[in-house]
Amino acid sequence: MEAGCSFGPYLSTCAGGLENVLLQELASRLYGVQVLSSHAGATVFSTSGRPEDLKALRAADNIYAYLIHKEGVPLDKEQGLAYLQAIAMEIDWGRALATFRQWNPGVAIIAWPSSNSSEGCSAALPRFRVTCERRTLKLPKHGYTSMEAAGWLGAGVGALLGWPVSMTHFDVELIATITDDEVLLSLSLLYSPRAKQNASATGPPDAANEMGREEEPLQAKAHHQSRQLYSHRPYRSDLVRTSLKPSTAYALCQLADIRPGHVVLDPLCGCGTIPLEAADFYGPSIAAFAGELLEDAVAKAGRNLAAGQQGGRPGPCDVIRWDATRLPWRDRTVDRVISDMPFGILCGSPKERNNVFPSVLKEIARVLVPGTGRAVLLCQGRKVRADLKRVPTRDFFLLEKTFSIDMEGILVDVHILQRTEVEVVVKPRLTPNRRRDRSRQRKGAANLTGLPAAFVDPME
Ligand SMILES: C[S@@+](CC[C@H](N)C(=O)[O-])C[C@H]1O[C@@H](n2cnc3c(N)ncnc32)[C@H](O)[C@@H]1O
Repeated sequence: MEAGCSFGPYLSTCAGGLENVLLQELASRLYGVQVLSSHAGATVFSTSGRPEDLKALRAADNIYAYLIHKEGVPLDKEQGLAYLQAIAMEIDWGRALATFRQWNPGVAIIAWPSSNSSEGCSAALPRFRVTCERRTLKLPKHGYTSMEAAGWLGAGVGALLGWPVSMTHFDVELIATITDDEVLLSLSLLYSPRAKQNASATGPPDAANEMGREEEPLQAKAHHQSRQLYSHRPYRSDLVRTSLKPSTAYALCQLADIRPGHVVLDPLCGCGTIPLEAADFYGPSIAAFAGELLEDAVAKAGRNLAAGQQGGRPGPCDVIRWDATRLPWRDRTVDRVISDMPFGILCGSPKERNNVFPSVLKEIARVLVPGTGRAVLLCQGRKVRADLKRVPTRDFFLLEKTFSIDMEGILVDVHILQRTEVEVVVKPRLTPNRRRDRSRQRKGAANLTGLPAAFVDPME
């Protein structure tokens, strides 16, 4: 990797709790990285790496030019808004815009009128807007709304630099994140409507539903595509309502410690984000499998697989329809199970999910290679935590680590499980004929087309 000029500093975002994965990736992929801070999903760092190197980061949701971080923002309306308005004066605008121009060479902008030395007469002051995300976790509520905070921050910038505001045809977008009495201000590098003439430039920043997953209405897709670093993954053609962010899927794969030659399985894959991310990143050194109960999700995972095969460097991946409580899969053949289990109001009722979880866990234990197999599961709820400690699950798995990640304000558990040597005793199987008759009656029977024979349970 070549060293370039030093731009930045940068702000990189990921789900809170997964910063360590991002830090490892920064250290291994970028030149001359210096981490200035890393907390609650926000990592500030400098590097002399080029934009292309930064755009290739997988653990990051997004990359911004870092502007400022301040603590002690007053909570009451009058003082808080005055404080926010004054922040513009403390920012190194020249450096931030130099970074923006490096990322968006097609957008000719200058920071202030007197700074126009080499830009030529086509360069102009940028039109801008401020977008604010605001929440209180430990302190009483703010006395102002997000709109008011954005308005007063913008007023300070406008007064200082003379930049005109445009909510829809802006050149640069400032992102303010206010948490309790802290404000983090950054400048969007990946999205400028003027640089991307065809992108629609309206609407709020990417919507995330109440479970911290992505909601991506089709009409918002073009807009969304250019706004997140991970949106450019080649396999991202069709999403389900509960799609996981590819950056989070990448982090789960890293936590699973995937090695060359591994068989990697997601038995509840939705539109296939986790196995497709694994196939896209690890390439042909692994074999990935994506299974799902719902026909619609299976079809989407299939289309994503096809899109990934056209646009990426995908390793082998198969998409299968099945019921994860009765996997049609041979015992002791899988090295890694990585799955984003159903949780939240978008994924069935709590009762249904609670009933399904123990059976899925038992199937995961059965198919994993004893002793070396590993599972990384994203789950939520006390019942799930209790199930993991209950016999027989606790005999099959060593609970190596549990920690929470913050998915847009919702805390979700990541469980890292090491498969023990304890054998899973399977109930005697039905004869093939009786089983076939039963499975015909069963809703969501497996469609095994395309599944390599080596892994298929002969009873299926
Ligand atoms: C949280 S979503 C997975 C989302 C996925 N990671 C993605 O990015 O699209 C959980 C999925 O489990 C599926 N599911 C629920 N019960 C299942 C079962 N018994 N067998 C297989 N899949 C099941 C649901 O249909 C849902 O798509």
